[in-house]
Parts: sequence; structure tokens; C-alpha cells
Amino acid sequence: MLAAGLLVSLMAACGGGGGGSGKLTLGFAQVGAESGWRTANTKSIQESAEQAGINLKFSDAQQKQENQIKAIRSYIQQKVDVIAFSPVVESGWDTVLKEAKDAKIPVVLTDRAIDSADTSLYVSFLGSDFVEEGRRAADWLVKDSQGKSGPINIVQLEGTTGSAPAIDRKKGFEEVVSKDPKFKIVASQTGDFTRAKGKEVMQAFLKAQPKIDVLFAHNDDMALGAIQAIEEAGKKPGVDIKIISIDGVKDAFQAMKDGKINVVVECNPLLGPQLMDIVKKVTKGEQVPKRIQTQEGVFTQDQAAAALPNRKY
Ligand code: AHR
Repeated sequence: MLAAGLLVSLMAACGGGGGGSGKLTLGFAQVGAESGWRTANTKSIQESAEQAGINLKFSDAQQKQENQIKAIRSYIQQKVDVIAFSPVVESGWDTVLKEAKDAKIPVVLTDRAIDSADTSLYVSFLGSDFVEEGRRAADWLVKDSQGKSGPINIVQLEGTTGSAPAIDRKKGFEEVVSKDPKFKIVASQTGDFTRAKGKEVMQAFLKAQPKIDVLFAHNDDMALGAIQAIEEAGKKPGVDIKIISIDGVKDAFQAMKDGKINVVVECNPLLGPQLMDIVKKVTKGEQVPKRIQTQEGVFTQDQAAAALPNRKY
């Protein structure tokens, strides 16, 4: 039995996708390059694969689910050892993941979860608790608004429609603010996690809403785009309109230092080292936790200014 176990491990370690190099091959289907967070995430995965001696096949789905499905199918055909991906949206993965399972290729979800009832379709999910991030964003607002009378009018820039971070951040935020009727979400619309869309939607909010007190942006890029719209409308971001964001990229820390964003809830993109660890373990047949949660903080303006010189992304 021991010999058979060893053989399985060796076969896994020399899987078909490595081009005979003896290296493990990981097929990674990335969401796209929509944000500073995503760029840092891609860099972390590419650098960690290199350092771990793992042959990385990388594809960029340009925020389209059909492209990710195509990439996963191509990794199955190439018989890679492990497939990892950050799902653009939560739903619609069962068919392709069953194909991976039938081909005996373990799948690791990174960053974003899926809503499939069949959890045997993936071995592990590595990423943040997005609902908690939404709650933390709202907790800051509740504290900051203590003693202020309402209404406090909030506009929300949502992430990509149907994506786990957009669904969960909205849920966590609304769960907390709904406890006090002085908070009113007067408009909420997707900005697709991009700077350009964040600016465009904020311009529309500013035109349509007579009074905006707070912007909650589901990521830094949308907040940074919205800052441009607010300034162009002759208002002071961070003062006339309080801004709450999520991620913690350098540009957002700079905006906080400049007083233009009030608080950032951190979402850690540096998932590469942990992912490579999981890849090595599953190909050795070792058990990995079904859910691995990343550790993150909340940054106020002073904390961001202090952390800025050493911020890596
Ligand atoms: O899934 C993580 C989210 O996706 C990040 O908050 C955002 O910046 C990215 O595009």
C-alpha cells in the first residue's frame, strides 16, 4: 500500500502538463486586470510560482466568465497537475468543474468563492471574508457618525455584478447600517471594480442626488475614479463626502494621506505563497483545509500615511 501511495504521489508530481520537466504544472485562470489589487495578485502568483519551482500556465479572462471556462477546459486538456482560479462571478461553474473532477485534476479557488452546492468540486478556497469586510466598512461609519443626526445619505459603488466580493461586501455593509434608520443608501450601482466606471457612475450619482454624505466603494480603484468625479464637481472628497473603500493599494493610501479617502478596509492580494503551498500539498495527496482565510486590517488616514513608504503594491 505504501508503494502504491508513493507511486500515486510520483505520478502526480510528474503530471502531464509539465512538458517532461518533472516540475508540477499549475493552470491559473485569472479574472482580468481590472484593478491595482488584481495586478498585485497576479504578480504575487507569478513570482511565487517561480520561487516554488512550479510551472505556471496563466490566462487573463478580461472579466468574462466564458473566457475563464475556456481557459479551465484548456488546462484540463493539457493535463495540468492543479487548476486554480479566481471566479469572475459566483454562479455557473458546476459543469466545467465536474469535467476537472472527472479528469482527476484538483481545483483550488483563490480570492473569490462560488455558490455551488457541491463542495467536492474544489479542494480548497483561499481568500478573504468579504461579508466581514463590508461589516468593517460600516462599523467605521457608525463610529464616525456617533452624535450626528440623520439622515446620512450614502451612495454605494458596487463591484462586478454577480461576483462574490460585490454580493458579500454589500451584504455585510447593509447588515450593519440597516440597524440605524439615520443611514440611508440613496443610490447603489455597479462600477465593475474599475477606475473609469467608478468615475462615470459617481458623476451620475452627483447629478441625480441632491445631498451625498458618504461614498462606500467596494474597491480602491472605483473610489479613486469617484474622487476625480467629486473634485470635478467642485466638492472636497474626504470632507464634503466621506469615502470608505476596500483593498489597501498604494494609490489609495496616498489618497488617504492627502485626506481624500477616510478609511480603507484591507483585502490582501498576496495569495501566491499560500497557493503554491496548497498546490504542493494536494499533489502529494496531503489534506488541505477546505477554507483558508487571509488576515487583514482596517486603515485610518494616520495609519495609511505611516504604512505608505513600505506598502508593496
Ligand atoms: O476579488 C477581490 C476584488 O477584486 C478586489 O477588491 C478588487 O479590487 C478586485 O478587482
